[in-house]
Formats: sequence, structure tokens, C-alpha cells
Amino acid sequence: MNDAAPNAAPQTFYLKDYKPFGYEVESVKLTFQLSPNATKVHSAIRFSPKADAEDNRFFLHGEQLSLISAKIDGTPVTARLVDGGLECDVPRTSFLWEAEVEIDPAANTALEGLYMSKGMYCTQCEAEGFRKITYYPDRPDVMSTFTVRIEGDEPVMLSNGNPTGAGEGWAEWHDPWPKPAYLFALVAGDLVNHPGSFTTKSGKDVELNIWVRPGDEGKCAFGMEALKKSIKWDEDVYGLEYDLDLFNIVAVDDFNMGAMENKGLNIFNSSCVLASPETSTDANFERIEAIIAHEYFHNWTGNRITCRDWFQLCLKEGLTVFRDAQFTADMRSEPVKRIEDVIALRARQFPEDGGPLAHPPRPEEFQEINNFYTATVYEKGAEVIGMLKRLVGDDNYYKALKLYFERHDGQACTIEDWLKVFEDATGRDLSQFKLWYSQAGTPRVKVSEDYADGTYTLTFEQSTPPTPGQPEKAPRVIPMAVGLLSPNGDEVRATEVLDLTEAKQSFTFEGLASKPVPSILREFSAPVILERETTNSERAFLLAHDTDPFNRWEAGNALAKEVRVAMVLDGAAPDAAYLDALEKLVRDDEQDPAFRALVLSPPSQSDIAQTLHERGHTPDPQKIYDAAETFTQTLAQQLETSLPRLYAATTVEGPYVPDADGAGKRALNGRILSLLTRLDGGEQAARQYASADNMTQQYAALAALMKAEKGEAQSKAFFEQWQDDRLVMDKWFALQIACAAPEATAATAKELTQHPLFSMKNPNRFRAVMGALAGNHAGFHHASGAGYQLLAENLIALDSVNPQTTARMCAAFQTWKRYDSERQAQIQAELERILATSGLSRDTHEMVSRMLSA
Ligand code: PHE
Ligand code: ZN
Repeated sequence: MNDAAPNAAPQTFYLKDYKPFGYEVESVKLTFQLSPNATKVHSAIRFSPKADAEDNRFFLHGEQLSLISAKIDGTPVTARLVDGGLECDVPRTSFLWEAEVEIDPAANTALEGLYMSKGMYCTQCEAEGFRKITYYPDRPDVMSTFTVRIEGDEPVMLSNGNPTGAGEGWAEWHDPWPKPAYLFALVAGDLVNHPGSFTTKSGKDVELNIWVRPGDEGKCAFGMEALKKSIKWDEDVYGLEYDLDLFNIVAVDDFNMGAMENKGLNIFNSSCVLASPETSTDANFERIEAIIAHEYFHNWTGNRITCRDWFQLCLKEGLTVFRDAQFTADMRSEPVKRIEDVIALRARQFPEDGGPLAHPPRPEEFQEINNFYTATVYEKGAEVIGMLKRLVGDDNYYKALKLYFERHDGQACTIEDWLKVFEDATGRDLSQFKLWYSQAGTPRVKVSEDYADGTYTLTFEQSTPPTPGQPEKAPRVIPMAVGLLSPNGDEVRATEVLDLTEAKQSFTFEGLASKPVPSILREFSAPVILERETTNSERAFLLAHDTDPFNRWEAGNALAKEVRVAMVLDGAAPDAAYLDALEKLVRDDEQDPAFRALVLSPPSQSDIAQTLHERGHTPDPQKIYDAAETFTQTLAQQLETSLPRLYAATTVEGPYVPDADGAGKRALNGRILSLLTRLDGGEQAARQYASADNMTQQYAALAALMKAEKGEAQSKAFFEQWQDDRLVMDKWFALQIACAAPEATAATAKELTQHPLFSMKNPNRFRAVMGALAGNHAGFHHASGAGYQLLAENLIALDSVNPQTTARMCAAFQTWKRYDSERQAQIQAELERILATSGLSRDTHEMVSRMLSA
């Protein structure tokens, strides 16, 4: 064992320090002798020194390993164990390194490296987990081919690539594609497969499998269809074909993240692959389809072309998120997907970018890379690619991507490589655009307008508030999609993309008969905050008339925010004109149900808090909660006479199909049911609960009843029905906390941590409870401080079990500077308490220190 004491001064890694490894790794052969507490790993690695190496130190990463023996070319050698790995004197010519180590997968609750989940062996190596399996240059720019032999008595034993042999107690695999160690995977256990197949465009037959624990076979069909659609889509849209004879997906219950793109052997959190109409909601189905696509798309964007170092993480993640969003838009509804993504971006990325954890999509330093799998790297990383595509146009985008795959296949690349491909393909200079990768913070764009003699002028002023370590910001390239409407609602100028490049810039439109109504930032063409003085009647006009569906929703959303802000700040009554506009829209059967459901979904309370904060007010969570309640109650009353008809008209009859169409209708129906439940004492919801044959409707009914405090019997029945289904139980845990009143939230969550089915070892269950606590805005931020305290206690308890999940969940405190001084003092005390915990992980230490120091 050679672990550094994690609380000692943590090491910081810098992008500017990058140096290539001094050795080529020609081949890797691994042999595993599986045993829960004492797995032996034998490695045989052929190294050859690089002639031009700047640095020929032979250092192999290794953590939590017991070294049994080491040899070079068959002769035992003595390796020096150093901080984080080992060093050894090695020949100046090609040599075979062999090592035997012992590891303890059953004791591995951090779920990184080789670990056990419900009796099954599995691995997670990204980002730096391979070093917990054996000594290796565990960095993404070291790529090699892997041959793996697994010895053990598990019925199914899988690794990357293609199977090359198997017998009683052993299986061998070979992956012909050179890969970094973070893409290594091994799975062994009692598993059953749901098979499928795909013939690629060049006529190659690929065997597909989804592997699950016995009992879950019935939840694989949807995932398999999603996989086939993904393979086809990547061929059709990007011309990219699958490159092995076999593609395996495995579902595991204990997993820190959503899923992992290991070459030919994707490993999924079971919540992101298992689906059935009885146990999964429409939202689950959509998410599963997207994640399967995401991991599959990584085969080219991540695996065939990987990252030079972890600072470049958004090279693979931003691009792959962008690709999976394109896929979902094609499979479902483009505007709905865009609206959902912008809601998520504002809920998760904007607070990150505006708080103590702000960092650019390509960070320049880190202590623990696991802390940088963030909304900024993923979602903002994808937004940056969307902007690039808008700037160069669709044809140029695909031309550049083609060049990227031709030029860099098999390489470990940087953001510079990526941008160079666009420069070469289009002739455009992207040096200013590159600021999006290096500057943190969300730009604010102030818009003013002027109209005289048929000429309309829009003036934009951009600025970005300081972020940690970046006090000054330079102006960026911002693609601003703009259309103009005439006062009677006709579009007088179709969408045009204005390229903002200066701090202040004007654009004119000539020949207009009257002053137009501008529709700005169409499709949310850049991840910025727009600041514009406008009236609620203009917003209502755009909600009714904008020809860009995103901006139509956006107008309604902005209006909803204004109304809520006025209610919170001035105690105003809900705006009557807005209620009328909503009523009109809800009753308009010509409109897409999914769109109506989105317009009917109020901005989140956290979003209102963020808006108040941006405008210089201190948000009061209880007041925000009260305004939300009053608003919803008033809306329900306004719609009272039409609710039963609307409910009936939007109820989807017939067998459940998880498609976009049905999902949109059920989403609207669910919104209407929740309004109706406020007026009818829960009668309709109880009927729906009793008759529902799918989880979407069962869950919608339960949620409506619980929110109205009328769901006690149904909650009990739900538990009885589903107690053996761990994914449905996660919903049951979370829903009770999400529906609790502010003063009862922490107590409800605390009680649930005492429930026999609560567990620190299962990240999904921990997140169900603690994530729901942090997500109940008024409950978490209740003046008592009980929410803060409960979360901190549980994070402290989890840290020694699973640092990665602990550190991620610490981010629940990142918005702390928004609130009043009492709440800030309470949170600060909790953060300091976490930081003072002895033996605190490097992961959590970094997150908490960043939040405290900003
Ligand atoms: N690379 C994975 C994805 O984006 C996410 C992941 C990161 C999973 C780290 C596990 C550990 O698909
Ligand atoms: Zn990814």
C-alpha cells in the first residue's frame, strides 16, 4: 500500500506542465485471477524508450496496490515505491515489464478501479482508475493494444474488443484498437444477455448484447432499439461506422456516474439502461435513449480520437453531448429538446459559471480530475460546438468533422487540434473564438434598439463578470440569431446570425415599414444572459406569435419569471394578463401538447432565486416558495371550469408507447392533473393512480397526491408494490422529499436515511435522498439550517466510503453566496465542518476549499 495521506497539501496539476511520456507502450497483456478479496493481476507490458524523449524517467502510476513481484525481461527487479506509483531503472532498448499485484475488489466502495457490485466484478477506469488495477502509465496519451485473460468461476467474463478463446474457468479477449487505459473494462458475474445484431453500411455483421443480472431481462428491449438507432444515425449523419465484431453493454447497480464508453464494453448505471413501461417514466425513456447514444458516439469521439490529457476533457465530452443532442432532436422533437437543454443549462451550468466553482470548459489546473466532470465541461462544452457550427454553417461543420476524423484517427488530441481542423476546413481565424475554451463565466449581453425612417438598429454590449482567478475578460465571438416580426405578427426578417465580436456593436436593418418586434437569441444561439428592457405585453406578443419555437417558449418563460419576481418583491398578485395568456395557450388544441406542457411548467424556485440574485436582490426561499404556491393555486382556479375537459382530452388511451408524441401528451396531462388535484381533493388523481398501467401515469398521480398531502395511502401502496425494484424505490425515496413542505423537508429526508433500504454504498440511493433534499429549494434553504446540517453530516459520512460521489454532491452548496448573511454563516459553518474532517478525501477537500475561498 502506498497511498499518500489525502489530507496533506494536495498536489495541483497544470495544463502548462504537459510533457509526453518517455516510452512507447507497444502491447499490454493482463491476466486476472479473480477473487473477491484477493484478485491477482499479472501484467506483461512491452515498453520501448522514445528516441526524442525530453524526460526518460520510468514512472508508473499505482494506488492501493500490493506489489508481489516485478521483472524486466524475465529477471526480478526492485522497484522503488514512490508517491502515487513506482519508479524503476530500465534498459535503454525495448523491454518487457512484468508485475504481479494483489487488489481487494470487495473492499472497494469508491467504485473506481476493479470493484464488486452485488456479487459481480466490474471496473471503472476513467479518469484515473486504472492505476488501482495495476502499475501503468495511466494517462490518456499513452495508447496501446490490450490482450486480457480472465481466470475465475464466473459464468460470464467480458473485456474489451473481440473474444479470442474461452474454456472452463477462463476467457480471453483481444482489442485490436490502441486505447488509453481509461477505456479498459472487465466484467465478470452471473449475467444474462438480451441479444441483437446490426449490419453496418459496409456490410459487416455486429453482435450486440445488453448484459444484466437475472431478473432484469425484461427491461432491455428499449435499450437495444436505442443502440441500433444510434449506430444507424452515426452512419447516416456523420458517416461513422462501428469497428469491432461485438458491442456489449452491461448494467450495474452501483456506479458513480451515468455510464462509461469503454471500448466495445460500455458499462452503465442500471438506471441509465434498464427500462420498462411499468417501471420507467417517459423522462427515463428519453434519458436512456440519449445516454445509450452518447456512449455509443464516444466510440469515435473519445475512443478512436481521444484526449491528450484530462484538461482536454471537453474535446470528447462537449462534442459527444452535442452529437447526442442532435440525435435526440432527430429522433424526437428539435424544439422540445432545445428547450429542455436550455432549462438544464440554466439550472446546472449557469449557477456553476456564476459561483465559486466557475471554470472554463478547458480548465488549466486541477487537484482531482473527477471534480471536473461538470456541467461546464459537458453542457457548455456542447454549447461551444453549437456556436461553432452556427458560425461556420452546416456544410462547413461537416467538412471540418470529416477532416477531424481523417487527420486525427488513432491520436490523443487537444482543443488546438480541434480548432485547427475548423480553420483549415473553412479558412476562418478562430483565435478569438478560442476564448470560449479558456474564459469562465456567462457573458451578459445588453441589448438596446433604435428605429427611425425605416431603419432599425440593434446595439449589443457584452461583458462577463469576474470568476475565480479571472478578474478581466475579453470580448468573445457571440453568434446572435435574430429575426424581426411586424406588429401584426408576420415575420419581416427571417433568422439571421449576427456575429458579435466587440464589446459594443450595432447592426442595422433597412427598409422596414414600421418598428419591428425583435426576436433575439433564437434557438438560444449562444450560452449568454440577455439583458433587455422590454414589456410584458411584448413578451406576451412573442409568446403568441414568434416563429421561432424556442423563443416563443422563452418569451413565456421570461414572462413567468417577471410575474414571480413581482410577486416575491412587491407581494403583487399573479398578473392577470399572463394568466389569460396561459389559459388561452393551454386550451388551444392546435398547439403541440409537449410545448403546452413546457409553457405550463413554471420556472424553478432556484431559477427565481438566481434571477433575483442577478438583479441585486437577496432571495428569500420561503417567499419564493409562497409565490410559487399562490401562483399555481390561482392558475388552477382560473382554469377550474376547463380542467376536467382538458384532463379528459389529453389522456392518452391504449397501450403505452414511450415515443415523443405520447410523452408530450402525458406531460401535459400530468400538469393538468396536478392543477386539478388542488381543486378536487385528489379524486381524479386517486382514480388515475388506481388504474394506471404505466409508471408515467402512476408516478404523475402519486406526485400530484403527495404534493397536495393526500397521498399517504398511495405512497404506502407504491412501496408495497415496488419494494423489490431498486430503481422504482429510488423514485419513492426522492418523491417524498421533493413533495415535503419547506419546514418538513429536512426531517423527512432524515427519516428516510434511517429506512432499512437506505444505503451509503449505493450512489443512486444516496443521490435519491440527498439530491432530493438539495433540490427542494425552500426545504434545503429553510431558515432553521436543518437542511444544510443534514446534507453536511451525510457528506462527511459518505466521504470515507465514496469520495467521488461525495465531492460531486458538495456542489449543492455552490450557490451559497446568493443568500442572506444568516444562511451564508450557516453554510459556511457546515463547509468548514466538512473541511475539518480528518482523513477527508482529496476530491472533497478540493471542492469545499474552492467554495470557501471564492
Ligand atoms: N465518460 C463518461 C461519459 O461521459 C462519464 C464518466 C466519467 C463515467 C467518469 C465514469 C467516470 O459518458
Ligand atoms: Zn461522455
